[in-house]
Amino acid sequence: MIKVVVFDAYGTLFDVYSIGALAESLYPGHGPAIATLWRDKQIEYTRLITMSDPQGLGGSRYYQSFWELTRASLCYTLDRLELNHSAPMEQVLMDQYARLTAFPENIGVLQQLQDLNMAVAILSNGSVAMLESAVSSAGLTGLLQRVLSVDGIRLFKTSPQSYALVLDAFPVQADEVLFVSSNAWDVLGATWFGFKTLWVNRQHQPFETIGPRPNYVGSDLTRVLEVVA
Ligand code: LAC
Repeated sequence: MIKVVVFDAYGTLFDVYSIGALAESLYPGHGPAIATLWRDKQIEYTRLITMSDPQGLGGSRYYQSFWELTRASLCYTLDRLELNHSAPMEQVLMDQYARLTAFPENIGVLQQLQDLNMAVAILSNGSVAMLESAVSSAGLTGLLQRVLSVDGIRLFKTSPQSYALVLDAFPVQADEVLFVSSNAWDVLGATWFGFKTLWVNRQHQPFETIGPRPNYVGSDLTRVLEVVA
């Protein structure tokens, strides 16, 4: 029985495709490449930070926030594609990250979960301030019991410690959590952790070719309502 539904943020609740459109308007012909490389590099940097211990600090870990890594990966992307970048253009793209919209069906799904008295949360690599800003600009304020950021533990997903934040926040067992993400790697990490998982495959991509399959697959967020019914 599902007692809590936990959503990933970027690409799952918040529509990151607007970033590609904005990038295309700033750098005609390069929008899709910028969006893809930026996202891939952003996630690669989270793994690099979580797996490394560059200052030999052990327990008090070296950390850069998701906001900082998002900016660093944007700079890498523009350099790699040999596109000129000025501080104002960089800022325009970064600002878009802070005010994303929700996918069209999302608010209705969250409202229906609220009507069902289901506990609902976000678990994200996003830093606290960028999540607060995105939640409010996407109109999701009041529809989420908790917005959990990995900032507090300084370890990004897919570390087990990051998924364990859900069990610290809610009095439930791992298999009573439905974890919902559009990112196949995130779904895999959550499945390994012991959550029930739903992969929202909006872009008809193949799933990862290692590890177990998700418990459920859907093409948009409305699938959540069928799973919890
Ligand atoms: C998140 C990113 C990884 O919200 O989508 O955690």
